[in-house]
Amino acid sequence: MRTPLDEYIADHRTLLAATGKAAGLVDPVAVQLDAYFHPLLTKATRGPIIPFDDVLIRDWDTDHRKIGPGLKFGIRLYKIDGIPFARCYCVFHSDIYDHGTDFFAVSRKDYIRFYRQAVLAKRESAPPGLPPVLSREHLDTLKQNTLGYLDRRNLQRIKDLGGRAKRGLLLTGPPGNGKTSACRWLWQECVRLRYEYKMVTPDAYRAARSSCNPVQSVKELFTVDRRGVVFFDDMDIALRDRNTVHETDDQAVFLSALDGIEVNEGVVYVFTTNCSLDLIDPAFKRPGRIDLVLHFHAPDAVLRRTLIDRWHVDVRAGIDLAAAVQQTDGFSFAEVEELKNLLILRYIDAGKWEWSWAMSQFKLNRQELANRAATRPVGFGVLEPARNGH
Ligand SMILES: Nc1ncnc2c1ncn2[C@@H]1O[C@H](COP(=O)(O)OP(=O)(O)O)[C@@H](O)[C@H]1O
Ligand SMILES: [Mg+2]
Repeated sequence: MRTPLDEYIADHRTLLAATGKAAGLVDPVAVQLDAYFHPLLTKATRGPIIPFDDVLIRDWDTDHRKIGPGLKFGIRLYKIDGIPFARCYCVFHSDIYDHGTDFFAVSRKDYIRFYRQAVLAKRESAPPGLPPVLSREHLDTLKQNTLGYLDRRNLQRIKDLGGRAKRGLLLTGPPGNGKTSACRWLWQECVRLRYEYKMVTPDAYRAARSSCNPVQSVKELFTVDRRGVVFFDDMDIALRDRNTVHETDDQAVFLSALDGIEVNEGVVYVFTTNCSLDLIDPAFKRPGRIDLVLHFHAPDAVLRRTLIDRWHVDVRAGIDLAAAVQQTDGFSFAEVEELKNLLILRYIDAGKWEWSWAMSQFKLNRQELANRAATRPVGFGVLEPARNGH
């Protein structure tokens, strides 16, 4: 006797085979997109609709043009990043047939790539993340010179006036005050706004630098095809890696690669360093390479208050905000955050919020670190003037 399950399986099998054939899929896999449905279909390109067994019922739904299949019965083809996939929408019975008759299908060989595209689309559709805590003016300058600069109308105006669609920003300042956080936030914004972005890591730089054509390889590393941002976080560390080549050489290669880059649509370079500005090679700081320097300092009372205000409501309720702001005078953002971590650890252990314990533990930890200070300093700051010639 045929059970409803037998029928369900048989129907699904027939529909999957027909969908695969209509879309030219090889060994099709059926999938429910679930949380990826909206982002993936918003990003995908819609293809033609195909009848199932000569049956096609169109749907003139105007509300969900992009994500709706545009049919009540049939198959809709799509593509994302060159990967073909299709939606079978042949719901003809009661609700129990839902998944078996309304599903997506993709070739087995494309399944992993398709999944990656779904993850990427979902990430890109995420709401904007919080920027680091900065004064309004500081944040505006950062935004205007990166995301704002890459705005299509702005780039067009620059080009029309004969300007260079390339901008260099240097974020400086003592560690723990938001340079890397700013890069991370800008990177998220690039994903959201669909700007291209590249993170140049010390490893990638090192590999390019020791290739047989270093200038060309470094150039490629810093080139974007579309408009976008290239990040080079802690650039001094990468540039001054003792295992590659002599430093003077290294900087010369870096600078000539940077100058030789062809700008396609528009590019912003965001470099960061912990070094103070006067210790940075003047050749690098010249306009055209670095157009703007943004200094990230330790937070004043207002910014410390803003930072602490972002803490979890339970943590905030457990401390005296005014005292916390006052006692963290001179702390970096990272140090203030470290205090929060200590507070939480203590709370997990002892069940109470103990600001004074966190403060004394913080000082103890600092002391210990100071006693074990690194013997090898890093950064432009240790560039020996005689060897470098500057
Ligand atoms: N301006 C800021 N706003 C919020 N949090 C910050 C800020 N600066 C630093 N932090 C905190 O300190 C940590 C380390 O900061 P980071 O951005 O890596 O510093 P830097 O790159 O300047 O050395 C961050 O992960 C974040 O938790
Ligand atoms: Mg950093």
